[in-house]
Amino acid sequence: MRYIVSYVSTISKSISDSDIEELMKYVKLQNNDKKITGILIYSEGNFFQVLEGQEEDIKTLFDKIKKDSRHYNIIKMLDKPVKGISFSEYHSSFTIVSGHNSHDELQNFLENEKTHNPEHFKSISYLIQKFIKPV
Ligand SMILES: Cc1cc2nc3c(=O)[nH]c(=O)nc-3n(C[C@H](O)[C@H](O)[C@H](O)COP(=O)(O)O)c2cc1C
Repeated sequence: MRYIVSYVSTISKSISDSDIEELMKYVKLQNNDKKITGILIYSEGNFFQVLEGQEEDIKTLFDKIKKDSRHYNIIKMLDKPVKGISFSEYHSSFTIVSGHNSHDELQNFLENEKTHNPEHFKSISYLIQKFIKPV
């Protein structure tokens, strides 16, 4: 069964810009490798992440992420099975958004969600609009 988790969090004080860049690269590689889709956005000291994939993979990964000292104040917003199209029927790369130059990537992500995850599209796009300031 496909599963979705989304949360916001606050970055730890000790994390530098290059640490963030390194984390973003790592997350994209790992998630593409494990066929986990979604988005990780960094904006002004906060993370917003959507993780979609097989239930067991997502739960195991989120348990690790929760314990990661690079962020705190983790507030979970979505945590449920996805009823839509089966995960194996589409392939999408994990999206990373950092700074204000990623408008196209964000649009692509939202288009993909609208098609493949219509049940949660409204709440995800609403949360993203609230999370990042208009470009
Ligand atoms: C904000 C944030 C988001 C993260 N997202 C992911 C992710 O999507 N996928 C991933 O593999 N690791 C992610 N990580 C890293 C994990 O917390 C953890 O370091 C990584 O899974 C390696 O764990 P391991 O050494 O136990 O294998 C994230 C970390 C942070 C701080």
